[in-house]
Amino acid sequence: MSLMTTLRRLAEPAPEPAPVRARVLAVAAQKGGVGKTTTAVNLAVAAARFQGLRTLLVDLDGQGHVETALVAHLAESPGEGPSLSDILLGRQRDLLEAVRPTRIPGLFVTPSDKGLAATEGILAGRIGKEFLLRGVLHRARERFDWVVLDCPPNLGNLTLNALAAADACLVPCDMSILALSGVSDLCAVLDTIRERLGHPIALLGIVPTRVDRRNARLTEAVLAELAGTYGDLVCRTHVPVSAALARAQMEGMSIHDFDSTSAGARAYRALADEVSERLETVQTRTKARP
Ligand SMILES: Nc1ncnc2c1ncn2[C@@H]1O[C@H](COP(=O)(O)OP(=O)(O)OP(=O)(O)O)[C@@H](O)[C@H]1O
Ligand SMILES: [Mg+2]
Repeated sequence: MSLMTTLRRLAEPAPEPAPVRARVLAVAAQKGGVGKTTTAVNLAVAAARFQGLRTLLVDLDGQGHVETALVAHLAESPGEGPSLSDILLGRQRDLLEAVRPTRIPGLFVTPSDKGLAATEGILAGRIGKEFLLRGVLHRARERFDWVVLDCPPNLGNLTLNALAAADACLVPCDMSILALSGVSDLCAVLDTIRERLGHPIALLGIVPTRVDRRNARLTEAVLAELAGTYGDLVCRTHVPVSAALARAQMEGMSIHDFDSTSAGARAYRALADEVSERLETVQTRTKARP
């Protein structure tokens, strides 16, 4: 290349970076079994199916329940692509390398990774360990409208990575005292993420799950406690106890495909609308910041 060509190239304006469009949403709760995966899966499917949003669902839990819950919709066998562990440990640089399509238009997933629990231990010794996921999400942020992160049932390194990468956190809370105290622990972690890591994650909402009107006293007590402590942060959409939700998960289908008229399907469709609204509010608030 001649010197003139090189100089001309250097003088050219750098190409515009692609706009960052995705909203990254972590679905997290400290307590196990409160409906994190059911919420992440059926919310992501509703966003893709009913709102036309290009959605990536990331399974950060070594139990691999996202794949189990969507197995009937997966387009191809897992193959030999990189795992999330490969990406978090720096063997691959970009989360997109692990992304797989599904038969649901607009919905993409990462494969299950049973090695994530071991990876979590290895991450503990790495510098900047909380920001590894954030560092590999850049291209996914350009290519998707929503990235939904399904977190494991603890507040360890993988959940911290999710929170440090996310714009907002949605917290499922079932109607139990243990789940209630888990919400307050998670709120304390969100404060730490904001203060120590300087990352302005929003608490998008707390979504009451497994709401069982037959168990009226406990349900009313937990809902009253949530309303008293968190006010408007409690989602108006409640997910009822629904056998169809459990059966859909066993069949590897989203509730919208398994039984679209069930109360569970209606709840998750309404939750997707509410999450969209809440994300708008969060964005406006973030933009309004000096
Ligand atoms: N609203 C509901 N009604 C009835 N069953 C439900 C409901 N939500 C979830 N379940 C069932 O409860 C079990 C736990 O749900 P899920 O896997 O979503 O919880 P989780 O918080 O992701 O669990 P873990 O902490 O193990 O990751 C599953 O068998 C699921 O099908
Ligand atoms: Mg789960």
